[in-house]
Amino acid sequence: MKFGYFDDSRKEYVINTPRTPYPWINYLGNQGFFSLISNTAGGYSFYKDARLRRITRYRYNNVPLDMGGRYFYINDNGTVWNPGWSPVKTELDAYECRHGMGYTIIEGKKNGLKAEVTFFVPQNYDGEVQQVVLTNEGAEAKDFAIFSMAEWCLWDAQDDCTNFQRNFSTGRVEIEGSTIYHVTEYRDRRNHYAFYTVNDEIDGYDTDRDAFLGSIYNGWENPETVKAGKASNSFADGWSPVASHYKKITLAPGESKTLIYILGYAENDQDKKFASEKPANLLTREAWVLNKEKAYAMIDKYNTPEKVAAGLAELKATWDSLLSIFKVDTPDDKVNRMVNIWNQYQCMVTFNLSRSASYFESGIGRGMGFRDSNQDILGFVHQIPERARERLIDIASTQLSDGGCYHQYQPLTKKGNADIGGDFSDDPLWMILSVASYIKETGDWGILDANVPFDDDPEGKHTMLEHLDVSFYHIVNNLGPHGLPLAMRADWNDCINLSCFSDTPGESFQTYTNPKFKAEGGYSKIAESVFVAALFTYTGPAYVGILEHLGKADEAAKAQAEIDKMKKNTMDSAFDGDWFLRAYDANGEKMGSKECEEGKIFIEPQGFAVMSEIGKEEGADIKTLNAIDKYLNCDYGLVLNNPAFTKYYIQYGEISTYPGGYKENAGIFTHNNAWIICAEAYAGRGEKAFEYYSKIAPAFTEETSDIHKTEPYVYGQMIGGKDAENFGQGKNSWLTGTAAWNMVAISQYILGVKPEFDGLRVDPSIPSAWDGFTATRQFRGDTYEITIKNPDHVNKGVKKLTVDGVDVEGCIVPVCGDGATHKVEVVLG
Ligand code: BGC
Ligand code: NOJ
Repeated sequence: MKFGYFDDSRKEYVINTPRTPYPWINYLGNQGFFSLISNTAGGYSFYKDARLRRITRYRYNNVPLDMGGRYFYINDNGTVWNPGWSPVKTELDAYECRHGMGYTIIEGKKNGLKAEVTFFVPQNYDGEVQQVVLTNEGAEAKDFAIFSMAEWCLWDAQDDCTNFQRNFSTGRVEIEGSTIYHVTEYRDRRNHYAFYTVNDEIDGYDTDRDAFLGSIYNGWENPETVKAGKASNSFADGWSPVASHYKKITLAPGESKTLIYILGYAENDQDKKFASEKPANLLTREAWVLNKEKAYAMIDKYNTPEKVAAGLAELKATWDSLLSIFKVDTPDDKVNRMVNIWNQYQCMVTFNLSRSASYFESGIGRGMGFRDSNQDILGFVHQIPERARERLIDIASTQLSDGGCYHQYQPLTKKGNADIGGDFSDDPLWMILSVASYIKETGDWGILDANVPFDDDPEGKHTMLEHLDVSFYHIVNNLGPHGLPLAMRADWNDCINLSCFSDTPGESFQTYTNPKFKAEGGYSKIAESVFVAALFTYTGPAYVGILEHLGKADEAAKAQAEIDKMKKNTMDSAFDGDWFLRAYDANGEKMGSKECEEGKIFIEPQGFAVMSEIGKEEGADIKTLNAIDKYLNCDYGLVLNNPAFTKYYIQYGEISTYPGGYKENAGIFTHNNAWIICAEAYAGRGEKAFEYYSKIAPAFTEETSDIHKTEPYVYGQMIGGKDAENFGQGKNSWLTGTAAWNMVAISQYILGVKPEFDGLRVDPSIPSAWDGFTATRQFRGDTYEITIKNPDHVNKGVKKLTVDGVDVEGCIVPVCGDGATHKVEVVLG
């Protein structure tokens, strides 16, 4: 069952009922100001950091789920309704929500009145513009009232939802004309404020939540002021501040009226915080007056429909240009839709927000993840490499000089989070992968010389290359009894906690390590991760390639020897006959082995081991891929492990706490499905690669949206696995490494267009039924128009490659570097 459809020509998903199986959201903003907006206009806004600079409030884990946002209410002669249906939920005569690239249009109709609201955050602008177009489609004149509504959050969202004894007495506002300013804590230690304005005279306002709702027993679905058709002109004083504009409107038949609301954010310099005079029309109970110059300038920027149209056109042009860098035309519309539109769009969102703020991530729990942000770059780097570069430097600056890393950092402060700390064994390796992918994309070897400090030596002169060195050797210097990397607190799988042995409720599996490992430095020196071993052999060659390019032949050979040794150790001690083990636990027992009662096979190490060709000469790659197909493959994707754990294994930690089929305990964790898609394509098995791709790619799950439940235009982190009661149900949509990795899987492995240090590899691994496909790739200043022909209907194998008609040996298109368009033709066979 579907709840809408893709409108590819407009790059939109069109939702045609407000009753989606879950709130289906979109993200507005891609620089500093961000908003989440659901198909019923729920959501919230923040500046840079969802925890430390929250602008509007949201209630987590609420009933009903999606309550709170920015709402417009219409009172048309006693009928009260919202263009997005919620929160009043009056049945609408028509409803539509269009989620597009950085904008959302929600349209509702009731009793001949149409309200179309366009929400977007313009480029280089710290505010959300909401353009409301009201049209009387009836035969009679109409008198009605419109109320806006936004609820302020008191900045630090964590504090806002816990520290009520203080926060119920701190709220402050100013009102000037049609603009309501939120200035809580501004006078003292803050230098930022928010505002909500409309480009017209208003007939009243409310800034106190209780006054707007009329009673503490009312919710957003039942505001007294709206029902009464009149605002109460309330002034919030030390109590929950909101912003609501009230406006009376008369429309002749066929007549339209446009109102432009702006929800903005601004910061003042310390010496310019206050205005010298109090304007005559200013409502304040303070002796001081906010300096509003920045707000005035922002308001001026989008106060007419023409300016709004120009802002929207600029946003659309930005996206057209971002999406023109890589475009494909394959025989499968769903692939085209994912690659050309939605997957790339999601990559921007994950790049911006890591795992911080979604309808499953509260925004108060985590900042930017070290491993997460590094992986996000893999799918984003071609879009805006300059931003990727800046991010790489920010992330690397949170690394320690021994190669260890803070696992997370706050985007506002760019400082590592001490409460989560470090010692996640995989973290440093992702840095090698992301820096290499940046260089492969741009050819900017200069990043290696960039000055990047270590967290424990902030003033020191260090280069990015040093960060890669310490990352690589952090693995080499921390090996266990089998010469495999120590698992430490966890590897990529946060829920395999081999040093935890937790028996106390509430202990965090991620931060708690059993005191018995204290003397050993905080984690077991026995537990080893086969996943990290395989990730090391997969990413290591990029490090070697960098050293070779720099002419450091000895260092390159030394690093290569470590990789070779790791491959040997893995084959000697971690190949279980038909697949690779997952780990050795702290008791030195095998995890993910045929010998285990449950959790005999895990997905994570397999793909990287296959792509590193560990044991290839003995057929380990094909055996492994076949085992995955046999034990992990099911209708909706590949489960993480099998059989699922049915009891608590204290030596494994969090993984065994989930009911079977969910999250890391045998859920379909789509992120690591991508690694198998890559591995199948790498091994030349294009049918399998495509089968796995099409099981999880959102556009392919659209028809089963009633089962899948989350948005059919973006990946979610997890789908209920075959052991789950809710088999096939998606969760944790939007902020997942799946976005980047499946972009890599489809574009670089299946379609096979892959940047390398010395050029653009073109080596597809596709379903044999395909006659071929075409692609356009902008790469290092040139444009490559690529045509793939598959006359023999093979999966993989470049028989002939020509660039502008000239034969090229192998499958790497050399960098032309003349800024021109080049024709690349590849014949498979
Ligand atoms: C969980 C992960 C989850 C992450 C996000 C971790 O504690 O183990 O599965 O994705 O938190 O918050
Ligand atoms: C989600 C986390 O964001 C990511 O870092 C981790 O790798 C996966 N969960 C798997 O546990």
